[in-house]
Parts: sequence; C-alpha cells; structure tokens
Amino acid sequence: MAIGASGRIVSVGKVRTARRRRDVGDSVILPAATDLHVHLRDPGGDPAVESLASGTVEAARGGVTLVGDMPNTNPAVADVDVLEEKARSAHGRAAVDLLLFAVPSRPGALDRLARTAGAFKLYLSPTTGIDRVPLRAELPGLLSRLSQLGLPLTVHAEAAEEFRPGFIPRDPVGWNAARPTAAEGAALDRLLPPPAALRLHIAHVTTAASAARLRSAGTSFEATPHHLLLSERSGLDSRFKVNPPLRSEAERQSLWEAYRRGEIPCLASDHAPHSLSAKELPFETAPSGMPGVETMLPIFLDRVRSGELDLGTLIATACDRPARWVGQPLGRIAPGHRANLLVVDFKRRTRLDPRRLAAPCGWTAFEGWEAIFPWEHYRDGERIVEDGEYVGRPTGAVVRPEFAPGEGSPTETDTEPAGP
Ligand code: DOR
Ligand code: ZN
Repeated sequence: MAIGASGRIVSVGKVRTARRRRDVGDSVILPAATDLHVHLRDPGGDPAVESLASGTVEAARGGVTLVGDMPNTNPAVADVDVLEEKARSAHGRAAVDLLLFAVPSRPGALDRLARTAGAFKLYLSPTTGIDRVPLRAELPGLLSRLSQLGLPLTVHAEAAEEFRPGFIPRDPVGWNAARPTAAEGAALDRLLPPPAALRLHIAHVTTAASAARLRSAGTSFEATPHHLLLSERSGLDSRFKVNPPLRSEAERQSLWEAYRRGEIPCLASDHAPHSLSAKELPFETAPSGMPGVETMLPIFLDRVRSGELDLGTLIATACDRPARWVGQPLGRIAPGHRANLLVVDFKRRTRLDPRRLAAPCGWTAFEGWEAIFPWEHYRDGERIVEDGEYVGRPTGAVVRPEFAPGEGSPTETDTEPAGP
C-alpha cells in the first residue's frame, strides 16, 4: 500500500519505490475502527474518571480512530453554544477524531444544531444525565422534523412505560427484570417504520428479535461488546449495571449468533465510565454504564484469533459500516481513504488488567479476558501508537458527516470489507 503526502491511501498492493518504507513482518494491517457510541463526560465530568483527553487516548490504544461523543454531559449538548464550546475545548486535547452528538430537546435550537453537530441522539427513557424525554404523542412530529434536518439520528430505544414500577433491583438479574426486553420491543413499535428520509440508527440492541426486525425494516443499528459477551449473571455487582440491562444467557447467545452471521451492522462500545466508588454504592443507587472504547476491538480480535468470529465480519461492523454511516473516508484499505491503520500481531495476546489500561476509571467488566491490542496505530499515515503505547500529539479534529450520492446502505448483508 502507498500513502500520499496528504495521509490518504494512494494505491493498494506491493510498493517497491517509496521515500519511507515500513515492513510489518508477520503482522497484519487493518483499517482502524470507528466507535459510534462513546461518553467522554466532557464537559462536567471528573477528569479522574474520564475526559475528552483521556478517553481519546484510550480510543487510540484500542484501535479506534473516530469516536461519536454522546451529548448527556453537564451541561447537555442541547444548544449550539455548548456544542461550539465542546469543539473548541477538543482543539489540542483530542488524540483521535470526534463526531459530536447533540440532543434534540430544545425545538428552537434544532436548525442551528443541525448545521454544526455531527449527529443527534434521542433518549426515549431517562438515563445518566437525561431526565426529560419526549412524550409519546410528541415523537412522530419530532422524528419528522429530524428527518428534514439531514443528520444521522441515534435512538436509545427503551420505552419507560414497560419498566416495572416499584421494584427494587438488587443485582443485574433484577435490573433485567426491572427494564425488560419488552421495553426495547415497545420502543421499536414506536420508531418503525421511520420517516423515509430519516437516517435512523438504534443504539445498543439487546435481543435477536430486535435485530431481525431492524434488519427487515432496513434500519441501521449497533450491538455492544457487553450485550454480545456478558449476560445478567456474568457478575452480580454494580459494575455490571448498564442501560439497557444485560440479558439472559440464552438471549445473549442468540444475539451473538446473529452477530457472527453478519446480521448486525455495527459494533459500538457504549463506553460509559463511572468511578469505582460510584459503582460501589448499593446496586439500586449505583449509576449505569461501563467503560469499553479501549477494550472493544482487542477483545473482538481475540475472538477472531480463537476462530469464533470472521475477521471480515469484525472489520465490516467495527470499521467500515460505522464510518460510512457518518460519511467518513475511513474503515477501508482502499485508495482515497485516510491511512488510519492498525498493525496487529495475532500472537501478541494479553490478559485485561485495569492497571495496564489507559482508562483512569481503573476498572473493566472484562478483567482477565484475553485481548489483542494493536501494536501500532497510524492516523493519516502518522504513527500515534507504538508498541501498544500512545505516542501521538493531540491533533484529533472534530468531523461532520460527508455523504456522497449513492452511498451503500449500512444494513447491507455482505460482510466482506473492501481491499485486502
Ligand atoms: O448504561 C448507560 N450508561 N446507559 C446510558 O444510556 C447512559 C450511560 C451513561 O452515560 O452512563
Ligand atoms: Zn450510551
């Protein structure tokens, strides 16, 4: 592969003449990933837990070159002033690129937000930092308005009416009973079919039935590593409390099989760090969410090594489709794409140990799992991770969708990535 001075891939194949050459030996070169669902907690978070600076370093180490940053911050990204301040604060602090989400909770702010944000995120139920959600009767009008604004829309699809009132959950099994899969189904009832022009994407789908419905509706969606790999009994403490909840082991297995068959278009971490002390509160008061941007690709690369997952499926779901969904020239080793690349040696396995992760929150629900970290990560042809450690300069940029006419649908069933 040849990389031009602009940092774009110029040609793919053997290159014999080049000013600078790099031979990666037995390692493989993969396109870097796009994670469409990350909570960097900036502004308003505690930097000892997470910030835009620390979260983007975690992304770089984990092979993620673009993160979609969620708007449930303090203040929430509900108007242009907060959004612009966030973009300004990213300058000189971001290790990888960012696509900034805004929450469409102020009708008067929507037009200006649509001209500056990267995407919208709509919550149908209360969760961390989100108290007010649209009334049922308001939803069709809001979706129709958003469809006219042209930006992608991600929806947190849990219908609060299906939650079990007055029930005090004491562990993830109780949490699953309190916010059951029926809440996801009821939210999809409300969202499908969406207005034709709406670029709708459903966040963190937890059941194979939802996946099948969304596929037949032609609607984009994602599944998270925790819903694919953990279930309600994987751990009984609050570190395993997440929205939507971890499901039964049978449900998890069905979701994993759908993913393996290439029936889930995108993988996204829903990286939602909280401090260990917050997670040590009694289960019913502890916050929901777990970190994941640093460990998502390394855990899934180990599933490829073990033979449980096709490399093509992983690249399609973690690199290619998420980048296309937000109109970025990333995620493929193909001429014209950015040379945001990973070097992976499938023999270099490690066991996840929170002390050896960049994440300041200091814990992972996947502690002890096998993982394969990329040992190099290039951004526009420049090395930002060397021997597994971040060595870059914080030159990450805020990007917005660039859609070309006739771009493929993210729900295409082929899982073959372009390029070698
Ligand atoms: O578990 C979750 N944590 N789900 C969400 O919807 C929000 C997130 C957070 O921001 O902590
Ligand atoms: Zn989230």
